[in-house]
Amino acid sequence: MLYQSKIAGLGSYVPDNVVTNDDLAKLMDTSDEWIQERTGIKERRHIKEEGENPVAEMGVKAAKIAIERAGIDKDEIDLIIFATLSPDYYFPGSGVLVQDILAIENCPALDIRNQCSGFIYGLSVADQFIKTGMYKNILLIGSENHSGGLDFTTRGRGVSVLFGDGAGAAVISRSDYVGQGILSTHLYSEGKHALELALKGPSTNHWVPEIIKENPQEDIPYFPYMNGQYVFKHAVQRFSEVIKEGLDTNGLEVSDIDLLVPHQANLRISQFVQRKFKLSDDQVYNNIQKYGNTTAASIPIALTEAWENDKIKPGDNVILAAFGSGFTWASAVINW
Ligand code: UT7
Repeated sequence: MLYQSKIAGLGSYVPDNVVTNDDLAKLMDTSDEWIQERTGIKERRHIKEEGENPVAEMGVKAAKIAIERAGIDKDEIDLIIFATLSPDYYFPGSGVLVQDILAIENCPALDIRNQCSGFIYGLSVADQFIKTGMYKNILLIGSENHSGGLDFTTRGRGVSVLFGDGAGAAVISRSDYVGQGILSTHLYSEGKHALELALKGPSTNHWVPEIIKENPQEDIPYFPYMNGQYVFKHAVQRFSEVIKEGLDTNGLEVSDIDLLVPHQANLRISQFVQRKFKLSDDQVYNNIQKYGNTTAASIPIALTEAWENDKIKPGDNVILAAFGSGFTWASAVINW
């Protein structure tokens, strides 16, 4: 027998420290006008006092809310899945740190490395474990500390104005009703584009002492690279394809979508997708204006906010979609 899974509880956490576009313009050659026009972003949050292991600790703050809303005890969690591109340590992943902070005994922790698509990849993994009956409650977290690793000089402005810090979490549980919950997930990757959006070092391939030796002037390339327009073009195409696939798989029409929650990469990407599918403003949820792109955290933060603002009701068809580094892209169709 195959079980069905549902999102039983959602939570999010963002640092208090608000960084406006004007704040960034004091550090680099940029402007509020450029950032808003090209991305829709007005401000983002940057970590200031989030603890020793901020990625795990922000994740825990979001997770505690999600666990309480799911109405379960933390000891009922059978698996932790942690999605991030900015783990607290090179290894181990931040999932085990969460397990330790939450003091959950004997619960496996799995780390997901799929960047902007990480939350949907994690959702799909959780869904499979629940479908087979192996687990009943899975804690899925997306959490990012971007500000700790960005180049805040003019050299890095094409990337650093986009990203923000924060965490979102969901408890995925066995559904009591057939037809309610996660209906399908759709995952893709195309590794030939891996270096179009990447942070190459430090890594085993670009090890710290070598990087320093190659860059004696301290111009150390520890920062992410993005071929912005190339990524943009692929993003709008893949978002559209993977949303359409989700609809077709479930026999749904565009008019059946109650809410689309796209990964918050760029407001212009979300608006392109909205126009393409002729969706109304009420059918698409965006909050990149306040938080920037929080990568693996962006969908669970947006989903939590949408749910808190009564934009999602039981029975609604909710679509999640993401695209990012890898390239990876994904969608999920949920009957709430
Ligand atoms: O979440 C993962 C997936 N990520 C994405 O999907 C992001 C996709 N890409 C994008 O969102 C856009 O490509 C960006 C927002 C990153 C850039 O917007 P764009 O319209 O593609 O601008 P551009 O890269 O073509 O740059 C245009 C100009 C350049 O100057 P020149 O060469 O025309 O003189 C850049 O140097 O804007 C300059 N520029 C900036 N100016 C002020 C780049 N960054 C900035 C900045 N402030 N922050």
